[in-house]
Amino acid sequence: MSHFSFSYRDTDRAHLAADERRLLAAAEQAAAGAYAPYSSFRVGAALLLENGEILTGANHENAAFPVGICAERVVLGMLDMTGPAVRAIAVTYETDRALAHAPLSPCGLCRQSLLEVRVHQNAPIQVLMACPDTAIPVRVIDDAAALLPLFFSGKNL
Ligand code: THU
Repeated sequence: MSHFSFSYRDTDRAHLAADERRLLAAAEQAAAGAYAPYSSFRVGAALLLENGEILTGANHENAAFPVGICAERVVLGMLDMTGPAVRAIAVTYETDRALAHAPLSPCGLCRQSLLEVRVHQNAPIQVLMACPDTAIPVRVIDDAAALLPLFFSGKNL
């Protein structure tokens, strides 16, 4: 029997490194600018590049619901794939609903998009998943590759 496992840690915000805090703050700011009139679930994503630059994006919904784009794919689409590698991504959200008790966990489409970058750069991408309730720890995964075992890649083509 083959086996897959990965580790993650739930970290109090106070214990995040300065870079991680800066990245999370950028994701929070991005969430505030989301266009999410249909779900009222505003997601922000921020990428930390190896040169220290931060790119941000937010979900962009559409009246034709499936046309809407998640925050992660908005920001990943802005990435210059010939440029600096991505060191980390932070994701968080705002919501009018009383659901703000868990860290944001990227959807399957976004995991596949993240994996494309991960494979292309051949270097890990740390994932920080946060919750608007700052008392809830931030979930940290050292490598986005763990988020999608047996993912589809160019090797499958
Ligand atoms: N959403 C994201 O932006 N990222 C995710 O990883 C999960 C969901 C958005 C899509 C939609 O606009 C809203 O959140 C509710 O699903």
